[in-house]
Amino acid sequence: MRDAPQTPDLSGLLLHWYDRHARVMPWRVGPAERAAGVRPDPYRVWLSEVMLQQTTVAAVRDYFRRFTDRWPDVVALAAARDADVMAEWAGLGYYARARNLLKCARAIAALGGFPDSRDGLLSLPGIGPYTAAAVAAIAYDEAATVVDGNVERVVARLFLVETPLPQAKPELVRLAATLTPQDRPGDHAQAMMDLGATICTPKSPACGICPLSQTCRARAEGLQASLPRKTPKAAKPVRQGTVWALHTPEGWVLERRPDRGLLGGMWGLPGDGWDGSPGGPAPADADWQDAGEVRHTFTHFHLILRVQVATGQPPLRRGEAVPPPEFSPASLPTVMRKAFDLARAALPPV
Ligand code: ADE
Repeated sequence: MRDAPQTPDLSGLLLHWYDRHARVMPWRVGPAERAAGVRPDPYRVWLSEVMLQQTTVAAVRDYFRRFTDRWPDVVALAAARDADVMAEWAGLGYYARARNLLKCARAIAALGGFPDSRDGLLSLPGIGPYTAAAVAAIAYDEAATVVDGNVERVVARLFLVETPLPQAKPELVRLAATLTPQDRPGDHAQAMMDLGATICTPKSPACGICPLSQTCRARAEGLQASLPRKTPKAAKPVRQGTVWALHTPEGWVLERRPDRGLLGGMWGLPGDGWDGSPGGPAPADADWQDAGEVRHTFTHFHLILRVQVATGQPPLRRGEAVPPPEFSPASLPTVMRKAFDLARAALPPV
């Protein structure tokens, strides 16, 4: 194993397939337009790539539209208020990405525009090797190799790499680079990702319609469905905790979470330290009712969160009542949205 597949022009086969089957995406310049000379906007490519990390295309579409309607270019985004960006990001998860996005937008605006190469992009805050390669390839047609989870799977199968992930990563990057063409590297990068997302899928790959099946070594051995192998992850611990939802005449009592750490910078219901913070007591003495529990899975733990709810106007020992114009449930991170919905459902309708 590990030698290159026999057919020399794998990228040619892949691009031929992409020309017919490229997925349509709001940030994408499709192959026909690209061939006609339309150039992708690096802002839209960058924004989509940051949003797509750890998230699916389906989940990102609406967020992307809302962001680009509200902040059509990087200068507009750089001038946005932090709280507005965090509120638009709510529900996408991994909130550090939104803070880094804004930091990066401000650095780009200060430079007067996007750096025009992978190395230039890499020097920006909050842009790592993946994003720099993706923007350089897709927006500038630089022959950078773009390796996300989809591409890892395609390459592991094509070259029959049996080393498990994550140990196999460097080898997969090296092998992926052997496929990157000088001609149309941006379309090649997107074709690899589309192939992984639509044909070379994790469970039942559609080898019968795959443009690369003739040269796929895993397919030849019948091993496609078991690659890439993965080193088993340690089971996630389960944490339990409580949040308090107090509805006052001025609004719900919320806390802005510290910038660093879990759900950093987002609004949340006051909690008892379920997040590893010191937490604290209930925000007030009130007639607390149990509204039930919500479950949510974070990167490193499962959470079972008990939700206590009350109404009234007792003196607050923590948090602040946030009136509706400043607070909308849609601006809460998902776990807090679940807790909030439960609390609201436990109160009589208003
Ligand atoms: N996943 C992440 N970025 C992508 C892109 N540019 N095209 C298709 N899938 C992707």
